[in-house]
Amino acid sequence: MLPLIAGNWKMNTDRASAVALAKGVAGGAALHKQVELLVCPPAVYLSSVAEALAGSGVALGAQNMYHEANGAFTGELSAAMLKDVGCQYVILGHSERRHILGETDAAVNKKTLASLAAGLVPIVCVGELLAEREAGQTAAVIRRQFEGSLAGISAEEIEKIVIAYEPVWAIGTGKVATPEQAEEVHADLRKLLIERYNERFAATVRILYGGSVKASNAGELLAQPNINGALVGGASLKAEEFLGIAAAG
Ligand code: PGA
Repeated sequence: MLPLIAGNWKMNTDRASAVALAKGVAGGAALHKQVELLVCPPAVYLSSVAEALAGSGVALGAQNMYHEANGAFTGELSAAMLKDVGCQYVILGHSERRHILGETDAAVNKKTLASLAAGLVPIVCVGELLAEREAGQTAAVIRRQFEGSLAGISAEEIEKIVIAYEPVWAIGTGKVATPEQAEEVHADLRKLLIERYNERFAATVRILYGGSVKASNAGELLAQPNINGALVGGASLKAEEFLGIAAAG
């Protein structure tokens, strides 16, 4: 499987800088064919970024969506709308949505099923808080989020899903998990996949690490057997740094 290097731009950039960043990533993409590159700009810039990426092979994703197909849901966007403007991926259940905006595993599960039904690849995020890690609850939290967010996903569907492990204490803090800490949780996630499906299906699922990934630490993280890519926040806002992470893949 090709490692996936995904940039989560969060609520950053404006239209001009989003287009410039996309062009910067697109311009360097040909040198990094050993990974799949993905950028996830703010939703209002998806169309502009899609144009800037055209023909580059860099994939486009959204940062969130709603599970309903259409109707009276003011302010929300459906999976079909995201596909319509060129998205192939959507990030779901990011810790900022879980912890700042109150998104539950049940909501993430509905969105995951709806994205699959519409043909968008969901990147389903899980990760423990610092207090949960310190209380020795990491494995239990990951299991609960895995079971809740990925309930009712068939074996055929799981092959299309990407999972991202992002310890909340490592996001935007500069405190990256050690390769061993990350690999331990990634291996647990792989075991959960094997338990629920089987070895063959579990082996097809890309599990990304996220949390303060940068060009200088990406190599040792991506060298771990169960780390199949990175979900990058801050360091994805500079094309050169993001492509430096791709170079480590
Ligand atoms: P960070 O964010 O790389 O800035 O820590 C990662 C993420 O939230 O996806």
